[in-house]
Amino acid sequence: MTLSDLPALRTVLLAWFDRAGRALPWRVGPEGRRDPYRVWVSEVLLQQTQVARGRVYFERFLEAFPTVEALADAPIEAVLKAWEGCGYYARARNLHRAAGVMAREGVPTTYDGWRALPGVGPYTAAAVASLACGEARAVNDGNVRRVLARLHGERQPTAAWAQARADELLDLTRPGACNEALMDLGATVCTPKAPQCGECPLRRWCVACQLGDPATFPAPKARAAVREVRAVALLLGDAQEAVLERRAGSLLGGLMGLPTEMLEAGESKVDALTRLAARLGATVAGELGTVTHSMTHRRVTLTVYAGGGGPARSRVTEAALSRLDHKALALWERQQTSLFSPA
Ligand code: ADE
Repeated sequence: MTLSDLPALRTVLLAWFDRAGRALPWRVGPEGRRDPYRVWVSEVLLQQTQVARGRVYFERFLEAFPTVEALADAPIEAVLKAWEGCGYYARARNLHRAAGVMAREGVPTTYDGWRALPGVGPYTAAAVASLACGEARAVNDGNVRRVLARLHGERQPTAAWAQARADELLDLTRPGACNEALMDLGATVCTPKAPQCGECPLRRWCVACQLGDPATFPAPKARAAVREVRAVALLLGDAQEAVLERRAGSLLGGLMGLPTEMLEAGESKVDALTRLAARLGATVAGELGTVTHSMTHRRVTLTVYAGGGGPARSRVTEAALSRLDHKALALWERQQTSLFSPA
């Protein structure tokens, strides 16, 4: 693959995209005139979610807030509720803040304008500017990086290397389509474990395909250590009405959840539970079970207990809860079912 191959490669890639690109809900509208709001929301969502699940969340969010004005006018609690399950709630807070700026000052039409909004980093700004505004900005996500690593036979692609290769490949007349073509190729053909090189429009230029072992490109990155966290929670009430507390901290910060205490080093569950019950002025009736939840750098094991007393209950369905809390509440539902229909 040399620079002189690039014009032919672009033509073939764009023809493949026009034929085989995915029909996704944020891609509606004639090319270059897509709704920047839809593109922006989808890009923020897809940073933490696979496309299959992201589509569902996207439809739900757009139904709740069909326009940037609707999002700007909504109370933050409603935005967090619509973001429920999508993780990283700081992103939902930034969406809301940025929508406020756009409602006052207008929707940006350039990379620099997008980049100036709260929570919009280089990736999101390049994606929205290219897909919705037609600006020549190359994006470089995990799928694009893998396609480029294989195409060039690079086992250790750094972010800077991948950005430079994406920049030189970008089609200046159809930058958005070129970006999405690489994303779709990575997601549907040039997949991590079982690339289908027979289907690939770029195979004649692809070094990894010619070497016969494309799945070994790029070499796996060393994973950051996952921290194990153990905690206890008290369900005071039931799955409809329970004591909820606002969580602090960056990960689930701002969301409501069951009152929880983390186990300190060497501490037993019983001691942590005693601490929790004393803090709430509650009593413990019995154990409901244990749930686990994995996030990027943390795996939480939460043992959930039922109890009585304590502060006032709130309506569970009206609060924005994390997936961990939904799993904890499901333990209550399961116990009710088994009480009423013993095995
Ligand atoms: N992943 C991130 N952005 C995407 C897009 N616009 N299309 C498909 N997959 C994506």
